[in-house]
Amino acid sequence: MPQIGLGTWLSQPGEVEQAVEHAIKAGYKHIDGAKIYHNHNEVGAAIKKCIPSVIKREDLWVTSKLWNNAHKPENVQPACEQSLKELGLDYLDLYLIHWPVPFQFVSWEKKDLVPKDEAGKLLLDRETSLVDTWKAMIELKKTGLVKSIGVSNFTKEMLEAIIKATGVVPSVNQIEAHPLLPQDDLVEYCNQNKINITAYSPLGNNLTGQTKIVDYPQVREIAQKTGSDPAQVLIAWGVKRGYSVIPKSVTPSRIESNFKQVVLSDEDYESINQLVKDGKTTRFNVPITYDPSWPINLFDEEVEKEAPLRAIF
Ligand SMILES: NC(=O)c1ccc[n+]([C@@H]2O[C@H](COP(=O)([O-])OP(=O)(O)OC[C@H]3O[C@@H](n4cnc5c(N)ncnc54)[C@H](OP(=O)(O)O)[C@@H]3O)[C@@H](O)[C@H]2O)c1
Repeated sequence: MPQIGLGTWLSQPGEVEQAVEHAIKAGYKHIDGAKIYHNHNEVGAAIKKCIPSVIKREDLWVTSKLWNNAHKPENVQPACEQSLKELGLDYLDLYLIHWPVPFQFVSWEKKDLVPKDEAGKLLLDRETSLVDTWKAMIELKKTGLVKSIGVSNFTKEMLEAIIKATGVVPSVNQIEAHPLLPQDDLVEYCNQNKINITAYSPLGNNLTGQTKIVDYPQVREIAQKTGSDPAQVLIAWGVKRGYSVIPKSVTPSRIESNFKQVVLSDEDYESINQLVKDGKTTRFNVPITYDPSWPINLFDEEVEKEAPLRAIF
């Protein structure tokens, strides 16, 4: 999997096609998408424009993700086929279970991707296990529609459960990882079990209103010293840890600079590690805080402690 990829979450209609095309022309060989980003059509249109004049299909890595409403085994292949159709592709290089959280399946329509009851509460599927869905992913791979299969937002316990039940190790676990959330234990487990890590929100995403990681003085200082920009420092931090890293941007100059790799010295790398003080990490992507809220304790973050449900697996 090419190490630097382009993220496409929150890339708006009307801007994502141009962003993906610009990225591929700038040298990106890895595009990260998902059904729930509602922009497969534009991502696919950009890819179509670039194949074969800029890149051959076999040299481009395209990832998409199974959304939570299609976890039932019989829905896994149709969901993948729907995403392939939207993208205009014959196969995906990687297909991930997006979240370890099954929603009820109501229909294939967009409005039912996040099914709610009359009170607006999310409808969870409490019957389908992660093992059921993982077995269907294993079958999906045999069809050739996907070259490799993996998971996203899985904890060590969830990974252990699906591996124990099937003997099949996911190629990838795509997780939130940046200097404020290094996830050392999970990374070590994945390394030991030959599960590649893809780091999402490598810049901290910029959505929460907290100080952006690119604006931390330590990051800015290293950027200044190395003649790079703060985002390049954060991407280099992930690369040095062996991850693939998928920064999102729709800004042409940032798409280009994010792809230009800089190398962090050991000293600068250590200095970035010090951003986590007293073990206090910051996770930006916590589904219990979404609207509608997912009433599940997935990561044991403080805000999840009172959740009525534990993670399902
Ligand atoms: N598996 C999952 O559950 C999951 C969850 C979240 C994300 N992801 C994937 O990971 C990708 C990346 O994560 P993310 O989108 O959450 O956040 P991110 O890549 O950490 O941050 C994106 C934000 O940073 C800005 N930015 C980009 N380059 C910059 C630069 N050089 N300097 C300063 N700011 C810069 C972008 O603005 P502009 O676009 O305006 O330039 C955007 O606001 C997603 O797009 C998605 O593909 C997966």
